[in-house]
Amino acid sequence: MNNPILAALDVDTLPDALRLVEQLRDHVGGFKVGLELCTNVGVQTVIAAVSAAGGEIFVDLKFKDIPNTVAAAARAVSRPGVMFFNVHADGGAAMMRAALEAANASAAKPKVMGVTVLTSMDEATLNNEVRVPGALVEQAVHLAKLAQSAGLAGVVCSAHEVAAIKAACGADFQTVVPGVRPSWAEANDQRRVMTPAETIRVGADYLVIGRPITRPPEAIGSPADAAQKILEEIAGVRQ
Ligand code: C5P
Repeated sequence: MNNPILAALDVDTLPDALRLVEQLRDHVGGFKVGLELCTNVGVQTVIAAVSAAGGEIFVDLKFKDIPNTVAAAARAVSRPGVMFFNVHADGGAAMMRAALEAANASAAKPKVMGVTVLTSMDEATLNNEVRVPGALVEQAVHLAKLAQSAGLAGVVCSAHEVAAIKAACGADFQTVVPGVRPSWAEANDQRRVMTPAETIRVGADYLVIGRPITRPPEAIGSPADAAQKILEEIAGVRQ
């Protein structure tokens, strides 16, 4: 089975990002590049450099705009080395289809993932500020089904929603899960965390892990040591 760990390159310079790629490329399945790195350095530069350094890439720029504009952005990130990129599922089915068509028309043919409900959002905020009534998990499942109907390969969601999404969309519909914390790492600003083993046990396909790997506690050692330790922790669950 492939390595499910995607290390988040949450740094703001290219040398810092490439140092992590160098240290981690043999220990993780790929690298997540997001708003911090891409708005500082430029997404094309990031994709070309991380790919040249031997890393496979998840472009986490969460596109949401009119279908024509999202298609143009999707074309721009559908480059060699990009495994997948994401769009907000609440941008609607036409927007998701436009992203998918652009990805499929490229030589790289990256997968497209839908963002369901941001893990930073709780039910009260969803209900009262965004004015989506009902349970948060129902909204996440609804958006996952919409993403699936638009042809997307999977969604980004919280570990707490994986089981419900798999039940509604099937085991092959992939889930990419942030908010993962080994027992030996600090929670930082993540709230509803699960350990890597728990996250795999509930059915997640990819784990997005940042600070526990990129800035591990001293007792753990290097970023590579942290990634190896996490791999050992999930090995038992995945057999
Ligand atoms: O350092 P940490 O493991 O918390 O990093 C998690 C990564 O996943 C960060 O890049 C964060 O932006 C991202 N993310 C998240 N929650 C989401 C979507 C993305 O934590 N819902």
